[in-house]
Amino acid sequence: MNNFNFYNPTRIAFGEGKIAELDKLVPKDAKVLVLFGGESARRTGTLDEVTKALGDRTVTEFGGIEPNPSFETLMNAVVQVREQNIDFLLAVGGGSVIDGTKFVAAAAVFEGDEWDILLKGGRNIKRALPFGSVLTLPATGSEMNKGGVVTRRSLKAKLPFQSDLVFPQFSILDPTKTYTLPLRQVGNGVVDAFVHVIEQYLTYPAQAPVQDRFAEGLLLTLTEIGAQALAEPDNYQVRASLMWTATLALNGLIGSGVPQDWATHMLGHELTALHNLDHAQTLAIVLPSMLRERKASKLDKLVQYGERVWGIREGSAEEKAEAAIAKTQDFFESLGVKTRLGDYDLGEEHIEPLIKSLESHGMTALGEHGDVTPDMCRRVLHASL
Ligand code: NZQ
Ligand code: ZN
Repeated sequence: MNNFNFYNPTRIAFGEGKIAELDKLVPKDAKVLVLFGGESARRTGTLDEVTKALGDRTVTEFGGIEPNPSFETLMNAVVQVREQNIDFLLAVGGGSVIDGTKFVAAAAVFEGDEWDILLKGGRNIKRALPFGSVLTLPATGSEMNKGGVVTRRSLKAKLPFQSDLVFPQFSILDPTKTYTLPLRQVGNGVVDAFVHVIEQYLTYPAQAPVQDRFAEGLLLTLTEIGAQALAEPDNYQVRASLMWTATLALNGLIGSGVPQDWATHMLGHELTALHNLDHAQTLAIVLPSMLRERKASKLDKLVQYGERVWGIREGSAEEKAEAAIAKTQDFFESLGVKTRLGDYDLGEEHIEPLIKSLESHGMTALGEHGDVTPDMCRRVLHASL
């Protein structure tokens, strides 16, 4: 096991009806800005419930944060925060709204050009406004972690940032708030959470058996509940399991003390930046080919994954690894998330611009060994055609 520091200050309030606890969680004298996405939060009544729970606090709203939140939109929120002397932010939505709120929290009190936050990956964040979240889409883990991803549309750049200062103070996880999700977003959520675990688990053996067992537990749970989460939208227990599994998949716990990969995510971000695919769609396209390309260096863990998660007992190590990758790809397809570039009308001619974009963002030595080069990513995309 590697050395590590684990820190996670986010309080979780989990279960039906927990939005009412906002009254305890938000300071009484706070000037609150509630941030949300398109229309879902208002349409589903969640926004009303939140406003009611905030009682007679001073509350203003900022709506319109888009999926894959844009720097351009978020800077409008920053202006509003500064003009209205807001001192507490509340995100109501999925990963995009929570990530966007993290950026606004840091940018509103940042000295200098706010885009530098993304260029420096958040290392230059010195202060941030306090904020909480009400999660409506289980997927990203943003509700209990210190990361975010923001897109600058004018530059076609989607970049991640991280800072201990942008952990939510609290997150409210009410599984009933997910009942209204379109099936596409449920499938996306299962795939995203699954790939988060894979990025932290499927590297090389690091003598970290408890991290492995935690990771395998999360993966097994997702394979067990994925289909049901799609088929039974108002099954409370299934949605509760999905919500908590997605949070645990990326709250820092399973990644402590082990090598991490993240090459699939970084290449996936380029697909979203250039072609506006959903985040999970990009992962479903990239991961199977990425694993095939790197089968040799990941062989031990691929075999372990195949045996423990998919029950693969027959064949050589190489055959077990291939079978595990095929099972993974089939699982994504079974959730309605397509796994080939062609499924999204993308072809060979789109590959070079993606590689150029990856290079221009300095993503040239990715993965747990730093050996995932642009050349390798080119082969991965060709294999995903
Ligand atoms: O905009 P509205 O109208 O609210 O609709 C949203 C949006 O269109 C809808 N939605 C959300 N909750 C709903 C609902 N519709 C009906 N009922 C509800 N309860 O769902 C759509 C997608 O929402 P979005 O927030 O974009 O999805 P997701 O949670 O998958 O977030 C994706 C973003 O998170 C980033 C991704 O890159 C992407 O930008 N990620 C953040 C991470 C992190 N902070 O740690 C890690 C991830 O790897 C990921 O990169
Ligand atoms: Zn992700």
